[in-house]
Amino acid sequence: MIPPWEATIATPRLRLVPIAPVHGPAVEAIASLWEVARYTSEIPHPYPAGYGVQFACGMAFEARHGGDLTWVVQTAGEVIGVSSMFLSDDRRAADFGYVYAPWVWGRGYATEGARAVVAFGFESLGLDEIGAYTAMENPASARVLAKVGLRRIGNLREWAPARGCFFNWACHRVTRQEWES
Ligand SMILES: CC(C)(COP(=O)(O)OP(=O)(O)OC[C@H]1O[C@@H](n2cnc3c(N)ncnc32)[C@H](O)[C@@H]1OP(=O)(O)O)[C@@H](O)C(=O)NCCC(=O)NCCS
Repeated sequence: MIPPWEATIATPRLRLVPIAPVHGPAVEAIASLWEVARYTSEIPHPYPAGYGVQFACGMAFEARHGGDLTWVVQTAGEVIGVSSMFLSDDRRAADFGYVYAPWVWGRGYATEGARAVVAFGFESLGLDEIGAYTAMENPASARVLAKVGLRRIGNLREWAPARGCFFNWACHRVTRQEWES
């Protein structure tokens, strides 16, 4: 059986490929954009030059050693996004996140990718619960999560590195039972 950190997830239009150092520059081209970073809880802005390779190396190492999983999202061989799954210590639950290149927004790719990551979490990782956070000002991402079956369960005030301040986030969740019904 392929270990989870080596598994490629395929959908009708996308391939989610485990991140590797070679993906660093393509990741940086997306993550360094303000319109991408502004609604995330992970991406700094300005994005340090060369940080894409550092991020890709770090996340590949993390995945190989039983930690969080990160995929680059490809269509027709081009990297158009990144998605990560952050596992709880007991590996029963996870939060996930994603960013997509602005030039592919509005085509349903984020929904297709999120649906595949959630299915992978329940079917291949055996998770009991999956969550995600969206900036309150980001209705597009909240809509993606709703389409994939997550429901909004509350709010959170958390640091937003790209903005350098605390920010209001909405929390979304789906349990295995909800997902299966
Ligand atoms: C949020 C993001 C991932 C959406 O990607 P995408 O590929 O355009 O998403 P999809 O096309 O799958 O779906 C977007 C949905 O949001 C809807 N939407 C778009 N803008 C909206 C808005 N301002 N208000 C409400 N809904 C909106 C779309 O109509 C679509 O829903 P529909 O299929 O019911 O019509 C993308 O804009 C992005 O990467 N943004 C920057 C990073 C980010 O915000 N990441 C998420 C962090 S939680």
